[in-house]
Amino acid sequence: MASLLERKLIVVTGKGGTGKTTVACALGLLAARRGLRTIVAELGDQHRLPAMFGQPRAPESGVEVELEPGLWSTSIDPDEALFEWLRTLGGRISVRMLAASSTFHYFAAAAPGAKELVSMVKVRELCEGRPRRANAHGETARARGPYDLVILDAPATGHALAMLSSPQTFAAIVRAGPLAEQAQRVRELLEDPARSGYVAVTHATEMAVTETLELEEGLRLTLDRDLDAVVVNGTLPRRFTKQELGRIATTTATGDGSQAELGESAALARSAGRMARTVYERARLQQSQVARLRRQRFAGGSPPAVLTIPFVFTPELDLTAVRGTSERLDKKL
Ligand SMILES: Nc1ncnc2c1ncn2[C@@H]1O[C@H](COP(=O)(O)OP(=O)(O)OP(=O)(O)O)[C@@H](O)[C@H]1O
Ligand SMILES: [Mg+2]
Repeated sequence: MASLLERKLIVVTGKGGTGKTTVACALGLLAARRGLRTIVAELGDQHRLPAMFGQPRAPESGVEVELEPGLWSTSIDPDEALFEWLRTLGGRISVRMLAASSTFHYFAAAAPGAKELVSMVKVRELCEGRPRRANAHGETARARGPYDLVILDAPATGHALAMLSSPQTFAAIVRAGPLAEQAQRVRELLEDPARSGYVAVTHATEMAVTETLELEEGLRLTLDRDLDAVVVNGTLPRRFTKQELGRIATTTATGDGSQAELGESAALARSAGRMARTVYERARLQQSQVARLRRQRFAGGSPPAVLTIPFVFTPELDLTAVRGTSERLDKKL
C-alpha cells in the first residue's frame, strides 16, 4: 500500500483541542521538505497557518498562500463554498443578495450535508485541479493546484465524520445532476486507500483514546477505511524510575511542619517532590493509554501506526517548535 505521504489527500481529525492543526502543519512541513508541492487546508474562517508563519494579515478564504517553498495554505469557508455553488445555479446573483435571500437559508436547511459536501468538493479540486473562479470581490485567486499532497485540517471527530459521509448523505437526496456527480467523485477519493489517508490526533487520556476508537469505527462504517496513523500528542517524558522517585520522596520529605518551621527552601523541595510524583503518575497513565491504542486491532486487521509527540514545554508553540515536531515525524513516516 502507498505510504501515507504518497497519497493525494491526508485527512487529520480527532478530539477537539488535541493538536490537529499543529499536526497538519507538521505534516505539511515534512511533505514540503521531501519535495512535495503541499497545501494545508483549514476549514471555517481559520487562518492559523499564515499567522504561525508570520503573515501580517489573514488572507481571504479560498486564496492559496505560499508559506515557504513547497508549502501553501488555504482556508475553506463552508458557507462561502455553498454560496459560490448556489451562485453557479443562479447566474449573476451577487453573494450579498444571495446571503440575504431566503433561497440560501431554505437550501441550507433542506439539504443536510450540502455545505459539507461543497467544502469536500473544494478539497478534491485542490487534489485534482479545477478552473479558478472569481471570489466575492471579483478577484481570481491564482491557480497553483493541483498539489501533490493536500492535508485537510478537518474538524473534530463527529463533524469530520459528517463531512466525510456528506457524499452519501447528499446522494440520498439528489441522485442526478452536476453536484451528484461531484459527490460521487469525492466519495471515490475518500474510499480509495491509494489516494487518501486518515490520521487521528489524540491526547493520551481515556476520553480522547475512546473518541479515537469511535472515529475508527465511524470511518469503517461510512467509508470502509481504517485509520492510517494515530498521533498521540503531548506525551510527558518519563524522567524517573520508580526507585528514583522513592529517593526523591525521601530526600524532599522533611517532615510535616508548617512552612515557617520548615524554612522556605525545604518547603520548596517538598512541593518539587510532589510535582515529580504527579508527573510520574500522569506519564504512567499516559503510557497505559498508548498501550491501549497499540493493542487495538482494527476491523481491517491491521494495527494502527501509533506515533507519539512529546509535550513541548515552551510558553507558546511557535513555528520552531512545530518544525521540531515535524522532524520527529520524519523518522516515523
Ligand atoms: N506537543 C505539544 N506541546 C505543547 N503544546 C501543544 C502541543 N501540541 C499542541 N499544543 C498546543 O495545544 C493547543 C491546541 O493545539 P491545536 O490548535 O493544534 O489543536 P486542535 O486540535 O487543532 O484544536 P481545535 O479542535 O480547536 O481545532 C494549541 O495552543 C497548541 O499550541
Ligand atoms: Mg484546529
